[in-house]
Formats: sequence, C-alpha cells, structure tokens
Amino acid sequence: METRHEDAYKRRSHKSKVEDIEKPFQIPIQDKSTKWKLQLLKLILVIILLAVFITVLYSPTVCHPEHVSDSLSRPHFVNRWMRGGSDPRYVSHEKVNWDEISNALDGMPKRSEIRGVGLLNFNMTENDIWKQFLPNAKHIHLHLDHAEESVTWNTLYPEWIDEEQEDEVPSCPSLPKLEVPRKRLDLIIVKLPCRNEANWSRDVARLHLQLAAAGLAASAKGYHQVQLLFVTKCFPLPNLFSCKELVVRKGSAWLYKPNLNVLREKLQLPVGSCELSVPLKARDEDYSQNVNREAYATILHSADVYVCGAITAAQSIRMAGSTRDLVILVDETISEYHISGLELAGWKVRTIQRIRNPKAEKDAYNEWNYSKFRLWQLTDYDKIIFIDADLLILRNIDFLFGMPEISATGNNGTLFNSGVMVLWC
Ligand SMILES: *[C@@H]1O[C@H](CO)[C@@H](O)[C@H](O)[C@H]1NC(C)=O
Ligand SMILES: *[C@@H]1O[C@H](CO)[C@@H](O)[C@H](O)[C@H]1NC(C)=O
Ligand SMILES: *[C@@H]1O[C@H](CO)[C@@H](O)[C@H](O)[C@H]1NC(C)=O
Ligand SMILES: *[C@@H]1O[C@H](CO)[C@@H](O)[C@H](O)[C@H]1NC(C)=O
Repeated sequence: METRHEDAYKRRSHKSKVEDIEKPFQIPIQDKSTKWKLQLLKLILVIILLAVFITVLYSPTVCHPEHVSDSLSRPHFVNRWMRGGSDPRYVSHEKVNWDEISNALDGMPKRSEIRGVGLLNFNMTENDIWKQFLPNAKHIHLHLDHAEESVTWNTLYPEWIDEEQEDEVPSCPSLPKLEVPRKRLDLIIVKLPCRNEANWSRDVARLHLQLAAAGLAASAKGYHQVQLLFVTKCFPLPNLFSCKELVVRKGSAWLYKPNLNVLREKLQLPVGSCELSVPLKARDEDYSQNVNREAYATILHSADVYVCGAITAAQSIRMAGSTRDLVILVDETISEYHISGLELAGWKVRTIQRIRNPKAEKDAYNEWNYSKFRLWQLTDYDKIIFIDADLLILRNIDFLFGMPEISATGNNGTLFNSGVMVLWC
C-alpha cells in the first residue's frame, strides 16, 4: 500500500505542476500591456524547439525522416531529449531470425496490399532490414514514451486494493499510448522483450508494448483491417490477442489478425488489478456483442455424482429466463446413460480429456480439477459464464456477460473462487 499511496500522491502533484506551468501562459493573454512579453516568450520557445528538433533530427538514434514527419510529438521529444538513451526495460537484444519472418510473411493473406507498416521497438539496423521485406510499403517508425520507472508489476497487480474505498479510490497507473500516425497502417510489427526468467510474462515493458500496439490497431477507422506481427520468443498476451486470431506462427514470428471490435472492447478495461472493473456497458440490455457466441458452461469429470446437479442447474438457468447455450464438458467417466440425461436437460455435451492437478494427492477431491482449464478451449464462444455443477441459478445472471475476463469472487489475496467465473475464450 505504501507504494500506491506514493504513486497517487505523485500523480496528483504531477497534475498540479502541469497546471502551474500552464497558468503563466494563460493569464497574460488577458493583460494587454504584457502581451508583447508573450510574443517574445513564444519566439524564444520556438527557437528552443527548433534547436531541439535539429539536434534530435541529426542524432544517430532517431534520424529517420519518416519517423520525424509521422510520429514526432512534443512530449515524446522532450522526454527523449531528457532521457538521452534507450530504456533497458524495453530493449530486446534477441537476434531477429529473418528466415522465420520471411516464412511468416509468406503465410500472410493479401501481403501485396500492405501499404502502411508501423515498426515498434526495433533498432536502426533492424528497421533497415524490414524495408527490404516489404519494399512497396511506407515504413513508419513508431515511438512509445516509456512507462514511468515507478510503474512495476506490483503496482499494476497489487495483492490487495481498497475495494470499499475507505481510505482511497483505487486507480491504476497510466501507461503512455502511441500517437496515431497520419498514414493508415495495415500492419504493425513489434519486437517484444522476453527476459529469460520464470517471470518473463510479468514484464511491464512487454505488457506496455502490446497494449500500445493493440491501441494503435484499434484506432483504425471503420472496417479497415490491421494485422499485427510480434517478434518474440515468448507467447504474446492471449487475453489481448487470442489464439484463434493467430494467422501464422513461425518460431518467434507471430502474425495476428485481430477482431478490432473485440480489441476495442478489451481496451476499455483498466489495465491491471489495481482498480475495480465495472461492466463494460452499464446499460442493462446492451452488454452483449453476440448472443450466439455466449454460453453457460459447467464440467463433470472423474465421477457421475454431480449429474443430477448439472441437470438441475440447467433447469434453473432456463427457469431464470436465460436462452443462452448450455455447454457441459464431460470426461470418459460419464456414461452414455448419464450423457443422454444431460442432453435432455438442455446441455450440449462436449467430451474432454481431464487434466490432473499436479499438486493434488491421489484420489483427493481436487485431483483432476485442472480440467477447468479446458473451458478456454471453447473457442466457438466468445464469452462463458462457468458455474460449478452443484449451483442453482435463482435469477437471470446474463448481465455477467458484460463483465471482463476473469471475473470471479475473491477468496484471499490473489486467490479467487473458481465456482463461478466469467471468461473470454
Ligand atoms: C540491433 O539489434 C541487433 C540484434 O537484434 C544487433 O545485432 C545490432 O547490433 C543492433 N544494432 C544497433 C545499431 O544497435
Ligand atoms: C519473479 O517475481 C517475483 C514477484 O514479483 C519476485 O519476487 C522474483 O524475484 C521474480 N523472479 C525473478 C527471477 O525475477
Ligand atoms: C484445484 O484445487 C486446489 C486445492 O483446492 C486449488 O488450490 C486450485 O486452485 C484448484 N484449481 C482449479 C483450477 O480449480
Ligand atoms: C489469507 O492469506 C494470508 C497470506 O497470503 C494468510 O496469512 C491468511 O491466513 C489467509 N487468510 C485466510 C482466511 O485464509
């Protein structure tokens, strides 16, 4: 909590600083006698900016004219100027395997129609090589302001937040976004760091780069399709870029064709568990994207003792008024006889192979409870409300489809109860 208090304070003080800076520029406008001072000040500012501009233009790290015309912005520029180097959190020294890239691009639909390419987090040498791969496209070197040093994985995913808002209103630190270039992009290519540790996925820079790329893709107007190519050894965030959107993967080249509407919806959520997520759309009837791609699901494995429970659960969902699909995952221990009963109750039956919990003792009640991970394989649905087979639904809970992944009730700390979960496949 210490750090988060500090953060909130920093944000507040930062904000008031900004206001303080702006004020002197606003007040003299009303004061005619000092108006010439403002002019002088403006002139000096222009000269300073020009000097910085020229310096940056000819500095070895950012001398690409395309970058300058397309994505140069003052805040970024000042930031870079002051930093004077690259941030080790963002740098990936991983050597790009251009054969894999070439193979991945061969699998790309409508490659010849790629006109605008955005490149993020590659160095100069690599940027030049990209030019040879897609010679007919305009290459835009995207620049992302780095997250503040104070933003760590723990500030994004704290173990505890003040849900009751007794001492403070929990909030997540903000991460800079990419500026949308004037040129329309068809393909965004990002190099992601993947530190060679057990924690590779808990990496602020890695998360930030993916969010920024997703945000840029989602900013595309209308139905324009944007593809994303990640260059990284490790798995891109499946919560943002789902497996079914993966067009082709060759080694460390991952090409995605995301559903931008879904991406836009996801990007409305706060990043991290540092504040409460509210339903995506507060209006009650309007939370569903596509009713046919939402379902209730439950699972029966290892024993048939819960068959009657599952039948009753189905009945209760229907009596509460929901018309969504009902999907039940069963393993081979459930007999034909029981399956036919489940089907009569309205369940669509899918057979799975159960998954053993490696930490459970033999024959313990939870020995096979990792089978719940099979839920994420229901990729013919977008959203699932999972309920344990021994639950009774007493009123319509379809509104839960408006909740983000994963929504569940907390148990203790970062543990949550897996008896009812909202998940996105
Ligand atoms: C760019 O990165 C590659 C590794 O991918 C490295 O071999 C090369 O030296 C780097 N070039 C520059 C100019 O930093
Ligand atoms: C992994 O993360 C945990 C918690 O954030 C940290 O205590 C640990 O030192 C990290 N391990 C490595 C190898 O970075
Ligand atoms: C399985 O059971 C163990 C022990 O109760 C629990 O820690 C774990 O979270 C459960 N896993 C799933 C996927 O429900
Ligand atoms: C919750 O977790 C903390 C530490 O993770 C532990 O000390 C505490 O006993 C747990 N509380 C309950 C009710 O299990």
